[in-house]
Amino acid sequence: MRVTILTLFPEFFDGPLTCAQMARARAAGLVDVALVNPRDFSNNRHQHVDDRPYGGGPGMVMMPEPLATALASVPTPGRKIVLAPSGRALTQELARELSHEPALTFVCGRYEGIDERLIEAEGLEPVCVGEAVLNGGEAAALCLLESVARLVPGFMGKEESGDDESFSAGLLEYPHYTRPENYAGREVPEVLRGGSHARIYRWRRDRSLGRTLARRPELLAQAPLDGTDYDFLRGLEKPAALGRSLFACLLHHPVLDGTGKPGTVSLTNLDIHDMCRVSRTYALGGVFFVTPLEDQRELGERLLNHWTEGPGGRANPDRAQALRLGRMAASLAEAVAVVEAETGERPRVIATSARTAVRPARGRKERPLAFTPPAAVRRWLREGPALLVFGTGRGLAPEVLLHADAVLSPVRGFSAYNHLPVRAAAAILLDRLLGDAF
Ligand SMILES: C[S@@+](CC[C@H](N)C(=O)[O-])C[C@H]1O[C@@H](n2cnc3c(N)ncnc32)[C@H](O)[C@@H]1O
Repeated sequence: MRVTILTLFPEFFDGPLTCAQMARARAAGLVDVALVNPRDFSNNRHQHVDDRPYGGGPGMVMMPEPLATALASVPTPGRKIVLAPSGRALTQELARELSHEPALTFVCGRYEGIDERLIEAEGLEPVCVGEAVLNGGEAAALCLLESVARLVPGFMGKEESGDDESFSAGLLEYPHYTRPENYAGREVPEVLRGGSHARIYRWRRDRSLGRTLARRPELLAQAPLDGTDYDFLRGLEKPAALGRSLFACLLHHPVLDGTGKPGTVSLTNLDIHDMCRVSRTYALGGVFFVTPLEDQRELGERLLNHWTEGPGGRANPDRAQALRLGRMAASLAEAVAVVEAETGERPRVIATSARTAVRPARGRKERPLAFTPPAAVRRWLREGPALLVFGTGRGLAPEVLLHADAVLSPVRGFSAYNHLPVRAAAAILLDRLLGDAF
């Protein structure tokens, strides 16, 4: 494989390219690295390669011409990559893909970055090596080079293999141990000292799953998992029992009715069942069904009673478990007071909305809602209780949205159609708050 690196600081690579496996791979002709300095291609009297940014702002931007001429000087550039914090993430999958290429060219940025027209005109693929900003693309190019080169056949010794490492199966790698058997009062896990390959495989797989869930849960959404893996993950406790601090609330008043005016909407049996089942799945503290109409509350109580203590509950104990989370309340304020009494703290009220703007009062201009992302709500749940408020009808009335402590970021579909049933929205939003992937 031939790799050409365009850099203003070729000396940066002196050490890394001349030690350990990389030095051996170069000597063996597995990887050939050439360094090209765009400054040598500047036709500017002072060999300038940067200038001030159009539109203002701090720092300098690398000019396109010296980089273009430098690129044109590369005999076999192959796939051309620019290291950039705004690029596609470097993953093991990308490293593997690039390791099959006969030639690669890496362009290292400096200053604020590179003129965008060079990136477009040369078809450079932006790659980012981590969600932190470095001084220049050199350290990033080294990361990319090393991750790709070690997958070139022959780079790693026979005893090493890329197949078992972190990310290869979409998961983080299990922990390693070597001698001594007892170190600092900690024993090497017993299973690793036994000879059962099946037990060792399962132990390592479970450690990988547990680590990935704890440290990089978003990776689980991409990893191919089987039923045994899911059984293991389901058996793990959620950190700090986040769900128990969260209560759901389905408002039937004040919500917008079919004409878009604030009003009251009737209870539905389906909403009660499904809100309770979703809340039970994510181990919430409870779910309130709010209506100011006394006869509607009585109806709700009867329904809940039928499916918990009554014949429905006896016939279907799983359903009873879920419906036991349900309570009726006359107002949002009453639901807040109940949560406060139960948890000892006033819950943060977090509204939900499919709409992105709210009209504060009749005749006033609509204004955009400021949304709070799920990650922030998850942080709050570690500190105290929260009440997640959903609206029936056409959604929560402006007064609820305007007085809530926060409005959770909405579900974004793929068209102008914006009519998700409240039960479906509740399931999606709860998974965003408490599901494995987040
Ligand atoms: C100081 S950085 C520029 C940061 C840029 N203004 C931004 O905020 O995205 C200078 C150069 O370092 C490289 N660089 C910095 N962080 C990087 C990262 N995480 N991944 C890849 N390249 C990076 C890029 O080549 C970038 O052009």
